[in-house]
Amino acid sequence: MSPPLRQLALQFAALIAVLSLAWPYYGMRGEPLPWGGVVIAIGAVAALLATLSRQPWWWRLMHGIFAPLAWLVAQLDIDPGWFLAAAILLLLVYRGALSGQVPLYLSNRQTADTLDQLLPSHEGACIADLGAGLGSVLRPLALAHPDAKFVGIENAPLTWLGGRFLSLALPNCELRWGSLWQMPLQDFDVVYAFLSPVPMADLWRKVEAEMKPGSLFVSNSFPVPGIEPTEVVEVGDGRGTRLYCYRR
Ligand SMILES: C[S@@+](CC[C@H](N)C(=O)[O-])C[C@H]1O[C@@H](n2cnc3c(N)ncnc32)[C@H](O)[C@@H]1O
Repeated sequence: MSPPLRQLALQFAALIAVLSLAWPYYGMRGEPLPWGGVVIAIGAVAALLATLSRQPWWWRLMHGIFAPLAWLVAQLDIDPGWFLAAAILLLLVYRGALSGQVPLYLSNRQTADTLDQLLPSHEGACIADLGAGLGSVLRPLALAHPDAKFVGIENAPLTWLGGRFLSLALPNCELRWGSLWQMPLQDFDVVYAFLSPVPMADLWRKVEAEMKPGSLFVSNSFPVPGIEPTEVVEVGDGRGTRLYCYRR
């Protein structure tokens, strides 16, 4: 079961456990369900289940407050259409978080400048960004290297559209909509990725299978588990960003 589904199942189990006791109890007494207390009980049971199943602390907290917050917001009498609209908007931007546990956060300018130092100097070099977001890395590099080709792939529709729009004036910068797992890497001299710890082992298998000898794979912040990087470059920004470089 995927992690989001597992967490949903946990919350659902807490809901069923509390309602299966509370409903008959209050039903037999002929009293209405005291929803305020019921949602607090659901939150407490969900937090307990999250603790027993050894979830990180922030998942326990989220499980604890989810039902009480949902109930509180329901009291505000907001049109459900707004929630649907917000969910669709989030999905259009954060699709990667749901499908592969890779949310959107952007590389900063210092990172793009540091990556610039790692690019090959020969004309016609090809550089890829896997999960390109808004093209925060590709755009400044494409501007600085008109003789090189930059290709990004992004699977969140709205994010991709934003990146496409922002890179319209850059003929050497192409942003494709699709999954990074479908993008062949054979033609690239440098492949950059800023994802999350989750896909790194699988991504390394793809890099090993597809990238040509002498090319460079650079992962922002997330090293490949069990593989020694050829070089680790400190960006020197406020975030303490590190670029893990793997020469093929
Ligand atoms: C941390 S952001 C990095 C954005 C950009 N590379 C940067 O450095 O500013 C990761 C991006 O990868 C995208 N993503 C996640 N999984 C993906 C997949 N399977 N295929 C394509 N893009 C994906 C997310 O939507 C998100 O925009």
